[in-house]
Amino acid sequence: MDKFKIPRHIAIIMDGNGRWAKKFGLNRIHGHKNGVTSVREAVEFCGEKGVEFLTLYAFSTENWDRPRDEINGLMELLVDAIVKETPNLHKNKVRLKAIGNLASFPENVQGKLNQAIEFTSNNTGLVLTLALAYSSRWEIVEAVKRTVEKVVAENIKPESINENFFEQNLTTFGMPDPELIIRTSGEQRLSNFLLWQAAYSEFYFPAVLWPDFRKKDFEHALDEYRKRERRFGKTSEQINQ
Ligand code: IPE
Ligand code: IPE
Ligand code: MG
Repeated sequence: MDKFKIPRHIAIIMDGNGRWAKKFGLNRIHGHKNGVTSVREAVEFCGEKGVEFLTLYAFSTENWDRPRDEINGLMELLVDAIVKETPNLHKNKVRLKAIGNLASFPENVQGKLNQAIEFTSNNTGLVLTLALAYSSRWEIVEAVKRTVEKVVAENIKPESINENFFEQNLTTFGMPDPELIIRTSGEQRLSNFLLWQAAYSEFYFPAVLWPDFRKKDFEHALDEYRKRERRFGKTSEQINQ
């Protein structure tokens, strides 16, 4: 396989858990539970392919508006998955990170998450970032606040603010922008995910529901990505010269 065409950073909007459960006449939470298997496979797959960063949209700011029992189920599942999966992540040299308004989570969730982040912090393999209580507009407004603080503290002129200066205050600072964004379940929207970082991402929208997303589906995503010509505003001739 052409190593050059493997994205360094892949981001996934893991969608379709509720519909998956409904298909089997089950409660939505069973869809979320089965989605954990897909997460495990996606992490393994990225490790095997040499992807450096995998970012998973697990819970959006807007998801706080879901029914209370679904939110409670998701919180329990999150703690459970973190506790169960961390030893295996560690064994595979995965470094866990999280972006989003983590302070909005119950304390036990924050505690377990921080423990796992700390535990894996020296690992040198895949960087697995969970977007939790994340929304891109929230992230951008937070980055504006920090930018303004710096501008005031260091007496910086507004005309010296550039993209590079601003993006140092985004939660994704230090990661390359995702070359590929996958959203399962056939929905074709970003739902407030990585709006700034997705400026030049390639998008792939498979119909498969997240709990059914397997390595072969991920392989299809890479096949599709490999066929795309990323021109960044240039002409095809310039790219191929
Ligand atoms: C995605 O699956 C998981 C979360 C948003 C937490 P959904 O729960 O949105 O599944 P559908 O879209 O209802 O099928
Ligand atoms: C987006 O999925 C968030 C996650 C996958 C975690 P949703 O299913 O909540 O998105 P919308 O509301 O249908 O756009
Ligand atoms: Mg959904």
